[in-house]
Amino acid sequence: MTQHLFSAIQVGQLSLNHRVAMAPLTRSRAGQPGNVPTPMNVEYYRQRASAALIISEATQISQQGQGYAWTPGIHSQEQVRGWKAVSDAVHAEGGKMFLQLWHVGRVSHPIFQPHGGLPVAPSALPVPGKTFIIDADGNGVWGDVPVPQALSIDGIHAIIEDYRVAARNAMLAGMDGVEIHAGNGYLLDQFINSESNHRTDSYGGSSENRARFLLEVVQAVVAEVGAQRVSVRLTPMGRFMGMGDETPEATFGYIVRQLAPLNLAYLHLVEPAMVGTVVDDNYNPRWDAIIHQLRADYPGVLMLAGGYTRESAEQALASGRADIIAFGRPFIANPDLPARLQGDKALNAGDGNTFFGGGAGGYIDYPAMV
Ligand code: FNR
Repeated sequence: MTQHLFSAIQVGQLSLNHRVAMAPLTRSRAGQPGNVPTPMNVEYYRQRASAALIISEATQISQQGQGYAWTPGIHSQEQVRGWKAVSDAVHAEGGKMFLQLWHVGRVSHPIFQPHGGLPVAPSALPVPGKTFIIDADGNGVWGDVPVPQALSIDGIHAIIEDYRVAARNAMLAGMDGVEIHAGNGYLLDQFINSESNHRTDSYGGSSENRARFLLEVVQAVVAEVGAQRVSVRLTPMGRFMGMGDETPEATFGYIVRQLAPLNLAYLHLVEPAMVGTVVDDNYNPRWDAIIHQLRADYPGVLMLAGGYTRESAEQALASGRADIIAFGRPFIANPDLPARLQGDKALNAGDGNTFFGGGAGGYIDYPAMV
């Protein structure tokens, strides 16, 4: 049977009645102090509950895992309570929601780190990029990041434990599952890519060794909450935040073949044309080839994101390139995106100036169709 955007699909224990998912979107509006979801955050997600599945904004698993101003966490009781209000509101509207688990690794700054320490990474190599920090006057500014400290084996094991506890906390917060963020140049991706991982122990060197940290995190989270509630997001051939791999086809092929037999809820890939939040216009045929290769390696539910429109999404589903399409920027500006796509209606344009940080403007005031 041909797949299309408005056909049903089973994802783990969830029966989704269509395939328009909401991609994870950092909005930097968590309550202070404590990075706790607020009633305004509840309202934002409630408005978007008609998504087949909402994937939350990236949410730090520990204080060490934070790298941007005002992002929410899932490591304190207040944060669990804040997220419970979000999941309750989404469920009351008939929606479903996974929480995205995040550790930024080296994309951080001492102002976020416990005791003002250095951010952690596979190797002491700095990010060729900036992160969104808070200046002395309390304003959000893009700031340079320092050279990070290389993690010890004990440090790696402690972070695996943080992922496990964060996944349990997400269940306490009423989430339907968790998505492990292993893309976009953050900690797990820093281990995966040869560019940022120069280790010589069992977590560095070969593709198998560089994938080890991610696979151990997946194993720990699956043991805690069950495979049907777990997913992984990867950005194969990603270039954001200084990523790069000598053999991406081999590295990501190995990872996907290791994940395939686990019966996860879904695997989420970002189209390699995306670099962070923008599309790279210099088309490379390797991008399509790697997505086809990974699709062939993954018999389970595959979600794709990155620059999709109604037409390209239908095409991707019809050709079997993907089973579900996640929309990012269109969901920021269109709380009722599924209805608009189904009716082939016009979309509101988003305002990039209010994507990160701020208040209700550009957050909960985008209109639904009347
Ligand atoms: C993102 N993206 C993103 N990805 C992720 O895995 N976790 C996150 O927290 C964020 N945050 C985020 C914030 C903003 C403002 C944007 C625009 C993007 C990437 C996002 O999930 C998606 O992959 C891209 O936006 C591409 O999809 P669209 O926007 O072309 O549909």
